[in-house]
Amino acid sequence: MTALSQLFNSHRSIRTYKSTPIPQDLIESVCADAIAGGSSSGNLNSVSLILTRDEAKKKTLFDLHLKQSMVLQAPLLITFCADWHRTREWLKLRGARDNFNNFLGYHVAAFDAMIVAQNVCLGFEAHGLGICYMGTTLHAMPEIAELLELPETVAPVTTIVVGYPDENPNKRDRLPLGAFLHDERYRPNTPEEIEDTYRDREVKGWERYMSIPPIKAVIEREGITSLADFYTSKVKYDPEIFARDSAKLEAFLRTKKLL
Ligand SMILES: Cc1cc2nc3c(=O)[nH]c(=O)nc-3n(C[C@H](O)[C@H](O)[C@H](O)COP(=O)(O)O)c2cc1C
Repeated sequence: MTALSQLFNSHRSIRTYKSTPIPQDLIESVCADAIAGGSSSGNLNSVSLILTRDEAKKKTLFDLHLKQSMVLQAPLLITFCADWHRTREWLKLRGARDNFNNFLGYHVAAFDAMIVAQNVCLGFEAHGLGICYMGTTLHAMPEIAELLELPETVAPVTTIVVGYPDENPNKRDRLPLGAFLHDERYRPNTPEEIEDTYRDREVKGWERYMSIPPIKAVIEREGITSLADFYTSKVKYDPEIFARDSAKLEAFLRTKKLL
């Protein structure tokens, strides 16, 4: 097994951390490697990473990230931003035409930001630290942008918490490779294939959620009886909240001139 494949296979999201601070030189070397080692659209490097260690800011971010405990516990949060501010200031200084203040620009920078984010995760994991993504960033973009003082054409696309792990969770499964790979053209799954693909997941996923007492309590309280129901219940990915926050995201991107 290669070192990289070993690193991939030892990945787990970490949700309980020691308070030990992360040395600044380690943070900087991981971020430098991550940036150097990731492709970048047009090599425009349209990304900014905002480090949060200040306790008061972490408390505000904790509230914005739906009070997920690791936001307070982990010594470091990194918010990855799609960033055209720097590039556009440079274009302006040189008298070049303006660009990237549009929805396509948003996507280009958001993809670059996710590439850097995943490289940063791998870098920290390679040094024995743990990480967890905070998908809640997408639901609280305007509030996070205000807290972090993001200018026009800068948007937070994801956040990670980073620290020394204080737990050793089991490795989580993924759907079988055959569910991801298509040869030459997209081949929609038959209902039988869907049954096969999700059979193990329905057992393992359900067992995992039922082994976490607060989640089990919610599942029982809400009368949820299957993993599929859980995923679109109001305690997980509620379609009404997705519709509401989609509208909020759209309005935010418009105010930031990214739509
Ligand atoms: C974009 C993204 C957002 C995520 N957001 C959250 C989150 O808000 N809270 C959380 O506990 N885990 C979050 N996760 C972690 C996933 O739950 C986790 O990766 C998945 O369950 C698989 O587990 P593993 O990472 O341990 O293999 C997120 C992962 C990704 C890629």
